[in-house]
Amino acid sequence: MDQQGMKELAGSGAVDALVKSGMKLGLGTGSTAIHVTRRIGALMAEGKLRGIRAFATSFQTVLECEKWGIPLYSLNAPELGGVLDLCIDGADEIDTENRLVKGGGGALLMEKLAAYASAAYAMVVDESKLVEQLGLKFPVPVEVIPEARLTVSLELEKLGAEVFLREAVRKAGPVITEHGNILLDIRFKERIDPAGLEAELNHIPGVVENGFFTRIRPTVFTGRSDGTLEIRK
Ligand code: A5P
Repeated sequence: MDQQGMKELAGSGAVDALVKSGMKLGLGTGSTAIHVTRRIGALMAEGKLRGIRAFATSFQTVLECEKWGIPLYSLNAPELGGVLDLCIDGADEIDTENRLVKGGGGALLMEKLAAYASAAYAMVVDESKLVEQLGLKFPVPVEVIPEARLTVSLELEKLGAEVFLREAVRKAGPVITEHGNILLDIRFKERIDPAGLEAELNHIPGVVENGFFTRIRPTVFTGRSDGTLEIRK
């Protein structure tokens, strides 16, 4: 099975296993999580899912929900009341303890808000996302207000990180997030403490959020190249 097939298998499998009518859902971002939104939309169209209320973690997800007619709300809306039953999202890396790095698509701020507001959390990935150690292969994004670019970069270097300003594609200059910030992608050469760093990075003035997700351990749905779906709690 190719990578697209693995992503679709994970996305559909998680929806079929976890999503029930009437749920308040957090819908993630990226090329794997989009299969979650599509599957929910298809089940709604067939009348097999009813009463779904959703929070979209990015503009990409909003657009997909609009295609399928999935009702969207602000987390502040009375229909959601600041809490979700279930959030399903993709990841850039997942370690053996089900801790995550996310934000490759630049949506980490809303993704973390949805994750930590949710009673249950699930990840949908293909097998390439499973790693022994976080932060060594895929860079960890740090969302920063533009004025803090250099001061935060210096602090990150003191923590032993290599720092790269994320550049836009088909637009000159840096990526600007949906919240008007920039992204510093950081990479470490040595073993790190993801839980400690998740808290420590957010204490640097000018940092809005970072891509370590360690305080909520998801159920992980992994599409495998042999065509099987692995579920790991
Ligand atoms: C978006 O900001 C990310 O957190 C994505 O969920 C993550 O990058 C995984 O995306 P893919 O499923 O496209 O690899």
